[in-house]
Amino acid sequence: MNQPKRYTITAALPYTNGPIHIGHLAGVYIPADIYTRYLKLKGEDVLFVCGSDEHGVPITIKAKKEGITPQDVVDKYHQIIKDSFEEFGVKFDNYSRTSAQIHHETASDFFKSMNAKSKFVEEVSEQLYDEKANQFLADRFVTGTCPKCGHEEAYGDQCEKCGASLSANDLINPVSAITGNTPITKQTKHWYLPLNEYDTWLKEWIVEGHQKDWKPNVYGQCKSWIDEGLRPRAVTRDLDWGIPVPVKGAEGKVLYVWFDAPIGYISASKEWAANHQKDWEHYWKDESTKLVHFIGKDNIVFHCIIFPAMLKAEGSYILPDNVPANEFLNLEGKKLSTSKNWAVWLPDYLKDFPGQQDVLRYTLTANAPETKDNDFTWKDFQTRNNSELVGIFGNFVNRVAVLTNKYYEGVVPPKNSLEAVDLNLLKEVKKVTSTIANSLEKYRFREAQSEMMNLARLGNKYLADEEPWKKVKTDQQRTETIMYVAIQVVSALAIIAEPFLPFTSKKLHVMLNQENLASQINWNDLANAEEIVPSGHQINQASLLFSKIEDDVIQKQLDKLAQAKKENELASQKVEPQKDFVDFEDFTKLDIRVGTILSAEKMPKAKKLLVLKVSTGIDERTVVSGIAEHYSPEEVIGKKVAVVVNLKPVKLRGTKSEGMVLMTENTKGELVFVSPNTPHIKDGTPIV
Ligand code: 2FM
Ligand code: ZN
Repeated sequence: MNQPKRYTITAALPYTNGPIHIGHLAGVYIPADIYTRYLKLKGEDVLFVCGSDEHGVPITIKAKKEGITPQDVVDKYHQIIKDSFEEFGVKFDNYSRTSAQIHHETASDFFKSMNAKSKFVEEVSEQLYDEKANQFLADRFVTGTCPKCGHEEAYGDQCEKCGASLSANDLINPVSAITGNTPITKQTKHWYLPLNEYDTWLKEWIVEGHQKDWKPNVYGQCKSWIDEGLRPRAVTRDLDWGIPVPVKGAEGKVLYVWFDAPIGYISASKEWAANHQKDWEHYWKDESTKLVHFIGKDNIVFHCIIFPAMLKAEGSYILPDNVPANEFLNLEGKKLSTSKNWAVWLPDYLKDFPGQQDVLRYTLTANAPETKDNDFTWKDFQTRNNSELVGIFGNFVNRVAVLTNKYYEGVVPPKNSLEAVDLNLLKEVKKVTSTIANSLEKYRFREAQSEMMNLARLGNKYLADEEPWKKVKTDQQRTETIMYVAIQVVSALAIIAEPFLPFTSKKLHVMLNQENLASQINWNDLANAEEIVPSGHQINQASLLFSKIEDDVIQKQLDKLAQAKKENELASQKVEPQKDFVDFEDFTKLDIRVGTILSAEKMPKAKKLLVLKVSTGIDERTVVSGIAEHYSPEEVIGKKVAVVVNLKPVKLRGTKSEGMVLMTENTKGELVFVSPNTPHIKDGTPIV
């Protein structure tokens, strides 16, 4: 594409059934935000939109599980997601939602426009139906065996093991996710997008047109889709949560979530335009606008094949220029999982690390899964912070600000005569600026960010080599020049850092008293400017940019994950099979009574045992119980318990135990009492 006149940047609309986690951030939102901030720094006309994806089966399932309405679910998470993006510095021009009226209208109009142009095929077919739930089963409402890889828990729309995109009818041995029943089939009518008719056009557009400029992972996926042969896709569903299909004869049907969600980008743009006296059509219908979709790899087919086919069919829209999808991020060597709570949730991070948004932004970009799946570890997070952000970037900036204040009361000294080292470093600033720009234009965010850090590294080396703290005693003029040059580098960093470390950049601008200068100097000038901050300019005191993260802080996060792992193992443990039947007479032989623990002490030299004195209503007796690792004596005294009183007494470590206190395990794997907590139960009451 020639120099675009404007940009429309979209970031995948997150499903509104849970908060954002680091996988989303690394894969989609941080790169999209960096790219947009960079373009805006260049003074480009950019619209950056996103919003909550509020339809779809997972939201209905969550609502059913929690006994609330789907609207309740999306209202809750929309707010959480929106607030956390804002606090994290992901700066959308508009963050909308697909339950908004404007979106319902936009998506309905889009469907009607395609329908009027006869772009759909209507077809009655046999679909899976759950007789107990009285509902057709599509997408996540049905699970079964993947016909491609044999994975037994594939969904009706996708197999998460092999990534195959499926139709519910493809599943082998389908089971309803609502009732667990085996579905029957029943006839129903749907509207299909005949993707097969776009085959030649897609080949031309992607295979011939974008082989070179799309990322290999994106291009490769598209190519294999096209090579496999495209089939018509149903774009309507028999559900009650979604946007009603706006044609006669479609009562009780809604648009497929993947039909309406990408149109959400358009609705979000319309909403923004209405609030800013802009014309949204410039951003969606003008060929000189560059449209870029930031997404995760599981969304490639929808953004590179299905949505473009919809746009093409409708006929009045531009197509994406690029879809820089990322691979997946793992956490401590394991796949991120919402259901297994194996994640670092953004709201939790913001709570645990207040004011440290840039540390996570930096780490996730440094490890971005751009070309392959990548791993986030807390140890790496700590090292990147302590050695790079504190040790290099913060250290350089701090030295320059402190020395300028110390030697010149914060006034930028004159540049006297520049030596080769000075000129080299100033040249490096220009070079780095254009290298970063080049990397960003190619969606190589890791590379771009590491160039920024390299500039800070060069600044540090310059100070170490030139030693202004020594020269200040002997050569005033030289020292002034060194500090002048160092201040230029810090000022450049303040601007360059903005897309990557926006909070730090802001602090730097304040520290350099550069807020107004920044609005005069944009990215393009930086590559040419001879000077960023002039001699005589007054700067402020050094402020703390980053601080060291200690081991105990990291350990807390690791403990959280260990806890999640433990809970998961327990949850996935098979429930013990039922034991053989016993006769009622046998059962009545057991005498279980309510009792009270009167006193407790540790059994000497036995880690696990407590010696309890228990009131059983019959008597007070000694019971030795293996709970010492879970309870201190103080914690159990006074507890009401269920106790088997006619178990044959045994000697444990020399102490006679005359019964057994009943215990069980909670979901955290801790031993807990099977306890008759209800008040007014007398000791000795049998448990029947
Ligand atoms: O995968 C997801 O999280 C989807 N909600 C992304 C939708 S992107 C778009 F098309 F809106
Ligand atoms: Zn599969």
